[in-house]
Amino acid sequence: MSESAQKSYDYATADFNAVYRGGELLGDTGITRVPWDVGEPQPGVIEFERRGRIRGDVLDAGCGLGDNAVFLAARGYRVTAVDAASTAIERAVERAAGRPGGADIEFAVADATSLTEYAGRFDTLLDSALFHTLDADGRRRYAAALRRAGRPGAWLDMLCFAAVPGGMPEPLSVSEQTVRQVLTDAGWTVTELTQAVYWGVAEATRTFLEKTGTQVEIDDKGRTQLPVWSVLAERS
Ligand SMILES: C[S@@+](CC[C@H](N)C(=O)[O-])C[C@H]1O[C@@H](n2cnc3c(N)ncnc32)[C@H](O)[C@@H]1O
Repeated sequence: MSESAQKSYDYATADFNAVYRGGELLGDTGITRVPWDVGEPQPGVIEFERRGRIRGDVLDAGCGLGDNAVFLAARGYRVTAVDAASTAIERAVERAAGRPGGADIEFAVADATSLTEYAGRFDTLLDSALFHTLDADGRRRYAAALRRAGRPGAWLDMLCFAAVPGGMPEPLSVSEQTVRQVLTDAGWTVTELTQAVYWGVAEATRTFLEKTGTQVEIDDKGRTQLPVWSVLAERS
């Protein structure tokens, strides 16, 4: 597809409830299957935990179908998992039932750009691929809301699509400078920012990738290997 024929989308209009019910996520992208439902925790989240970057009361913001939350709960963390899409929470509760730690997770429908009911509650704020789905104003409000939900000295662990070659198109992906700026302005001190990989379901996004002229790596299990910023920050 030539450069001029590439389509762009208003990502802030994504209908998450729809895709969790088998409907269209976004315009004519053909995404009717949950693209991030790889059925297991994300490697970046496993790495946060392996490195000792999770502690105490954890908020999984934009938890989706809950595989990251279950992974952490099974390792003994007290996990609250919220998502704005009520269908995601219904399905996450079902999926977590009967899995180790699953019954201990506090699932709730909540808008992560406000989180007023969670003020001062958490030691660790986990974001696995929510930040980049928001528009510029939403990202600012979200960063402030996460800070509000954190206790003094709380940690933020974030995976966010990176605007680098082989990644998702902007503004769905975000520059390193923007991530640093938004978090710093909201009162976070970024202590580490490196590149990592977020898995997706290649088949779910095939049409979208074609229409946007996006070329990403796909592994032998049919998973997109999407570049993300792996960000560690502290509540300053
Ligand atoms: C790309 S998915 C990632 C899901 C999950 N964290 C994962 O890695 O599998 C982004 C999630 O954020 C949720 N979301 C979007 N905007 C939100 C908001 N304002 N508040 C809470 N959740 C939101 C969506 O419903 C969706 O489940």
